[in-house]
Amino acid sequence: MLTPSAPPILDFSPFYGGDSEAKAKLVDKVRECCLYNGFFQITGHHVPLELQHRVMECSKRFFNLPVEEKLLIDKNTNDFNRGYELLRSQMLEAGTGPELKEGLYIGEEIGRDHPYYLQKKLNSGPNQWPQTVPDKEEFQKTTMEYYHAVFELAKDVLGVVALTLGVESSYFEPLTDGAVATMRYLHYPAQPKDEDEKLNRGIGAHTDFGCITLLLQDDVEGLQVLDVPTGQWLDVKPVPGAYVVNLGDLFMRMANDKYKSNIHRVINKSGKERYSIPFFFSGNPDYTCECLPNCREPGEEAKYQPITVQDMVTASYKESYGRAEKYKHDLAKKSLGETPAMTAIKA
Ligand code: OGA
Ligand code: NI
Repeated sequence: MLTPSAPPILDFSPFYGGDSEAKAKLVDKVRECCLYNGFFQITGHHVPLELQHRVMECSKRFFNLPVEEKLLIDKNTNDFNRGYELLRSQMLEAGTGPELKEGLYIGEEIGRDHPYYLQKKLNSGPNQWPQTVPDKEEFQKTTMEYYHAVFELAKDVLGVVALTLGVESSYFEPLTDGAVATMRYLHYPAQPKDEDEKLNRGIGAHTDFGCITLLLQDDVEGLQVLDVPTGQWLDVKPVPGAYVVNLGDLFMRMANDKYKSNIHRVINKSGKERYSIPFFFSGNPDYTCECLPNCREPGEEAKYQPITVQDMVTASYKESYGRAEKYKHDLAKKSLGETPAMTAIKA
């Protein structure tokens, strides 16, 4: 019997080298992971460790600001998903409470005269930069330098994924040209140890919406991936400099469910604050996602209708934020409608 094992750590460097045997081995390993649960970690990529350290420092500097200052760039004041998200805003797992994380959403700098802004494309608009963060110019510069470096890496990883499907590494260029990708600075406060584990989540069990996610974690544990065959939660241990890579729902759909977008969550029981930076690669909003080559058995039908990146990801966002809103609304109704006396009678 297979024993469940955490996502393997793969050396990505053969992708850049001339050793075709080593490259073929990498492709085989990535294929295995995509088929199993869509998760793996990579080292040997081209994002400098020094840049990763600088970007983590930026993230910490931002979250250290007083909450009133962070709220000056509240994400709820625009409809293109940029800016600060307060603790307990999102709720991805039914039956748990709103999540113990705060975030800053960042993307490509899209001005108000850009076609994506004018056409209200997915997450497209100007970044909302904190004006009171120390050394704000460096903050913006480092953030965008890092964003572009991970964007390039995401394209390279999709190149390898294309090879796993038996097509050219350039196969996904129509998807990656003009792609929308969103990066989040995330901060998970330490959860009190005696808190109810059933209710409290850093991030509830979920799958990612887009094509592919590249996650940088600091050295604090908390991320877990579900091993579907056994139902066990496996820790995705932080490895210095590595990216946790996972496929999202959009990719799984294109792969006719052959490749997996797997469930994962964060519970920060470390007693320490945790920081992470996921990079969600959605793709060109106008790209039509259809069943990919070699993802069907002969004679097998495609399971899904074609859909654009735009339509698929927009629908997923609506669903998860709607859930958190409803929970808070119901809670408010409850506390308004019930007097202490009524509560006492019921108890
Ligand atoms: C996410 C996610 C994991 C982490 O933001 O979708 O799964 O470690 N994050 O922050
Ligand atoms: Ni996720």
